Amino acid sequence: MNIRTIHELKNIRGKRVLLTVDFNISLHNGNITNDTRIVEALPTINYLRKEGAKIILISHLGRPRGYDKKFSLRPVAERLRKLTKIKVNLIDDFWEGKAINIINKIPEDELILLENIRFYKGEEDNDKIFSKHLAKMADFFVNDAFGTSHRVHSSIVGIADYLPSFAGMLMAKEIQVLSDALNKPARPFLVLIGGAKTPEKIAVIERILDIADTIALGGAISNTFLAAWGFGTGKSLVDYEMVEMARVVFWKAAKKHCALILPQDLVISDRERSKMPSVIEYNKIPNNVAIYDIGPKTQKYYCKLINEAKTIIWNGPMGFYEDPLYKKGTDAVLKCLSNSNAYSILGGGDTITSIKERRYLEKISHISTGGSAMLSFLEKGTLPGIDVLIKN
Ligand code: 3PG
Repeated sequence: MNIRTIHELKNIRGKRVLLTVDFNISLHNGNITNDTRIVEALPTINYLRKEGAKIILISHLGRPRGYDKKFSLRPVAERLRKLTKIKVNLIDDFWEGKAINIINKIPEDELILLENIRFYKGEEDNDKIFSKHLAKMADFFVNDAFGTSHRVHSSIVGIADYLPSFAGMLMAKEIQVLSDALNKPARPFLVLIGGAKTPEKIAVIERILDIADTIALGGAISNTFLAAWGFGTGKSLVDYEMVEMARVVFWKAAKKHCALILPQDLVISDRERSKMPSVIEYNKIPNNVAIYDIGPKTQKYYCKLINEAKTIIWNGPMGFYEDPLYKKGTDAVLKCLSNSNAYSILGGGDTITSIKERRYLEKISHISTGGSAMLSFLEKGTLPGIDVLIKN
């Protein structure tokens, strides 16, 4: 993919750069639970600083409806200051005309972070006036927010109409790694998909059937496929609207000789999870229980698939990992993945959040900062935020 990258930006000393990043991190009681997305943006920040540019960072956090203190980027500004040891100026209301004067007066060697861009309606509307206002603040636009680049928003797509636009280092790396996996995977090529968000994941599975050798499912999405196969799923989370589509995917998988694998055994409890978990075969789920994880036989089999594979992409947890009783499947897959010699790519906000053990993460070849963005890239081979960076 022929995109403009920041390495093509010359003579930028003293120039102002609007740098969109994906600092959409998880917060618990106001504390950051995982700062991977901030850490991953540091190479681009450091590069632009070294070249002498003045950096104005843009990010969203969560999905606020208008201004909401809960979604302030203040904790992010604080973490960024700790990580970079540079003063970070959080600009509360950059919509006001005087904000531009304030920004202009901030010394070049300090960082500027605009408050949550989604406090403004113009962002999600990709509003032209809003994009122009943002563009007025800078000389260049750099997008390093791979995780948000599936959105047609002002800070991702709109600004590019008004400023010369370039991909940051994280963005360029994500595009390279995922394109290589899609275009020239070492085989066998295994894709593991878990979690919910069934409609968007089914579209990815349908597309990836053409290239993957095996697709193994877990989490809520596998419930929908079990239902499509005709098995009872009790009170489990099933996307009934997608059952018909899942049937079509089975048919296409058979036609394309791609193995579409469902769990052989599952961990169940009652709907409220008040009973201790028990393990049951996939075809014996009683009506009054719900599925919460993949069972031990499935874990073993998925590990075997992982050991045999040469390229692996994994997106989405294998079960209800928020409850420690139901995270064994996700942990087992992660452990096997970290021991495999395959080129491994892990993506998805939830999956990353589920991983506390750094030693496992360190052994994974590439951790994508994109959840839905990674899935959308796998499905379409590009994203709206990437399209605006392609060379003519
Ligand atoms: C993510 O967490 O996947 C990205 O930051 C995008 O967030 P969004 O789904 O709220 O657009």
